[in-house]
Amino acid sequence: MIYPERRARLAAQLGAGGIAIIPTAPERPRNRDSDFPYRHDSYFYYLTGFSEPQAWLVVTAEGAATLWCQPKDLEREIWDGFRLGPEAAVGQLKVQAAHSVSDLDRLMPSLLENRRTVWYPFATHNGLETRIDGWLQKVRARVRFGAECPSEQRDLCTLLDEMRLVKDAHELAIMRRAARISAGAHVRAMQTSAQRLRAGEEVREYHLEAELLHEFRRHGSQFPAYGSIVAAGANACVLHYRADAAPVRDGELVLIDAGCELDGYASDITRTFPANGRFSGAQRALYDLVLASQDAAIAATRAGAKFTDPHEATVKVLSQGLLDLGLLDKNRHGNVEDVIEQRHYFRYYMHRTGHWLGMDVHDCGSYVEPGETGTLSTRRDPLSGETLINRPSRVLRPGMVLTLEPGLYVRAADDVPQAFWDLGIRIEDDAVVTPEGCELITRDVPVKADEIEALMRG
Ligand code: GLY
Ligand code: MN
Ligand code: MN
Repeated sequence: MIYPERRARLAAQLGAGGIAIIPTAPERPRNRDSDFPYRHDSYFYYLTGFSEPQAWLVVTAEGAATLWCQPKDLEREIWDGFRLGPEAAVGQLKVQAAHSVSDLDRLMPSLLENRRTVWYPFATHNGLETRIDGWLQKVRARVRFGAECPSEQRDLCTLLDEMRLVKDAHELAIMRRAARISAGAHVRAMQTSAQRLRAGEEVREYHLEAELLHEFRRHGSQFPAYGSIVAAGANACVLHYRADAAPVRDGELVLIDAGCELDGYASDITRTFPANGRFSGAQRALYDLVLASQDAAIAATRAGAKFTDPHEATVKVLSQGLLDLGLLDKNRHGNVEDVIEQRHYFRYYMHRTGHWLGMDVHDCGSYVEPGETGTLSTRRDPLSGETLINRPSRVLRPGMVLTLEPGLYVRAADDVPQAFWDLGIRIEDDAVVTPEGCELITRDVPVKADEIEALMRG
């Protein structure tokens, strides 16, 4: 079991007198007396593998782990389901002690007594700081009896984010399985689109979303890792579009960005395909450009490279291609260096080429090298207007997982060749960094235009 080992690695970083407090996620009401499906907190799960609600973990620098969880309660279990309970938790989760969560406030002050530093995740759980303050007040009330109160509070995310950034073998095995399930779901959606159109049946975005969900669930995935995007035609140019009810028409492209969560780990795949299974000339030209830019990103992804290298490689290929296709004008926008320098490509490519992937789809982990402070830049982010900070990019290491997801989004406009109007294309794969390069774990769904067409003919 991997969890005690992770807790030991954390304990070793807490410093003499350190203690870490990690709550799981709260249950969240959806409406009236119905809750959203419960999803544990990722940090908590990383250290316990325990997915029941109302649970807390404490780890001390000496390596002792204490768990609080829901007590056994036959009546509640009849209504809500099985609870592990504190007694069984000790053996099953390999913690040193376990208590009912109803004893949390009573027991926590004594654990905090005579400790130097309290670690907990900052700014992630509403009300956590207040709760910890309450426990510390109880400790302080005992100072006149000789107790020492912790004098330092530190952000536990700084330690756990670094640990989670480099995936261990246990995590990679789950992520490969999640990726395979998601790839199968994309295959199924592509084939369904072509088959239904060939049969003269109506296709709507939700028909394709239903195929994705069916495939996720029948392979044991607990949830989609994020709200699935199934965007027909011009909807693909809306970056945060969700699967809705728009008709999927013969001759249009469909962009699907969907991935399952399996045993707490996300996958994240985007494919763009012709609804009827055959790319038109302009669709194919733009598709091949995005694919070439992804190839460049893949080639730039290896241990020792910077996190920003794949993005820069992508932008170079896209910028040249936009000039070649006439979407940018050599006379107005200059050569490829000018397009990059002046960010003219931004009109069609306005997001980054990737993000960390893990338990969370946009996983934790700093995008800059730890310890580097950087300098305030004079540049502003073109979308948000925020002042950018120049900081040295994170260096990739084996076991880091990131997405590679270039795209182009062309809205109708007078200065844009009409053949490209309303085309939105993104191609997204999940890459595990290796010493020599990267392993793409999502390639069980084809990505080359010819291969997509062949699959959709079948
Ligand atoms: N599906 C979310 C993303 O691609 O970042
Ligand atoms: Mn992504
Ligand atoms: Mn995605």
